[in-house]
Amino acid sequence: MSKVIGLFPTPLMKLDTFVDSMMLEQISAIARQGQKSSNSATDKLAHTQMISADEHQVLKQLKEKVGPHVASFGELLFAEKRQWTIKELWLNVLDYGGSQFMHTHANSFISGVVYITRSHSSANTVFRKSTGGGEFIFRNDVPVGHFNSDTWVLSDVAAGDVVLFPSYMLHGVPPNEGEQRITLAFNAIPDQLDSLGYKIKFQ
Ligand SMILES: [Fe+2]
Repeated sequence: MSKVIGLFPTPLMKLDTFVDSMMLEQISAIARQGQKSSNSATDKLAHTQMISADEHQVLKQLKEKVGPHVASFGELLFAEKRQWTIKELWLNVLDYGGSQFMHTHANSFISGVVYITRSHSSANTVFRKSTGGGEFIFRNDVPVGHFNSDTWVLSDVAAGDVVLFPSYMLHGVPPNEGEQRITLAFNAIPDQLDSLGYKIKFQ
C-alpha cells in the first residue's frame, strides 16, 4: 500500500453562497456610490476607503455572520480559541481590463474576500506560494497539482461566496476579461496569542 501525505498544508476556508442576494445588492450599492480611489497600478481597479461597518447596517450584519467562521478558522491556524475582530474592510471594484498585483495583507492574521458579484473566470483570485523558499525550481506555469505548481486558482466562485485565508498568503487577480467584478475584503486579528506562555495581545 502506498499513500501520499501533504506536509504542512495551508488552509483556505470557502463558504459557499454564504451571503444572500438582498445583502449582496445592498453592498453593491455601497461599492458603486462610495468614494473610491484608483489603485496605484491601474485606473481599472478602484478601492473604497476603509469602511466602518457601523456606518452600514448590512456590513454590520455581514461582520456578525462571518465572525464565527473567522474564529473557527483562527482556531485551525493557531490551535487556540480566541476572540477575533474584523478590524477593517473595504470594497474593490474591478472593471474590464483591470487586475490586482500579487500582494499580502500586513498587520493582519486572517484575511477574507466576499464575492459581491460573480467573478469572470479570467479574473479568478490566484494564490501563490511565497517566493524565496528552499525548493526545487522546476515548476509548472499552469497549475496541475498541489505539489508541482507555485500557483493555485480559486475557480468556481459565485456571488455570495466567502474565502478566508492566512494574511501572509500572496494573492492577486489577473486581467478581468468580463463584466465589472466587485469584492469586499477584510482583515482580522485575535485579541491575543499564547505560545507556551508567551502572550502577545492585539487591539
Ligand atoms: Fe488582497
